[in-house]
Amino acid sequence: METAFEEKIWIEIAPVSEFSQDGGTCAKVGNEQIAIFHFQQGDKWYACENRCPHTGDMVLSRGLTGDSKGEPKVACPLHKRSFSLKTGECISGDSYSVRTYPVKVEGGTVYLAVDSSSVAKE
Ligand code: FES
Repeated sequence: METAFEEKIWIEIAPVSEFSQDGGTCAKVGNEQIAIFHFQQGDKWYACENRCPHTGDMVLSRGLTGDSKGEPKVACPLHKRSFSLKTGECISGDSYSVRTYPVKVEGGTVYLAVDSSSVAKE
């Protein structure tokens, strides 16, 4: 079986000052909406697709952040299903999952690692 590996590239999103300081912010990358989360405690950053797999609504950036046994998570604002921001797995008992993305901050700017094809769609 052949597996295709897509090249990841870091793209600049916005200055740190444009993000919620303890919550989510939505960024559009190509045709994708990505929810970027900042946890003030520990100054941690995470990202996942903004689309909740339960109904397909673009709502996760407005979700409630927290942790479950040390795992950072976001709870969907509509029906409260929770997703790990490390693995994307639903941690409230459903088989759904969301895609996660690496995030980094350099020089006061937030960067996301995305598939190169995501950027090509712009
Ligand atoms: S739309 Fe997210 S849990 Fe229902």
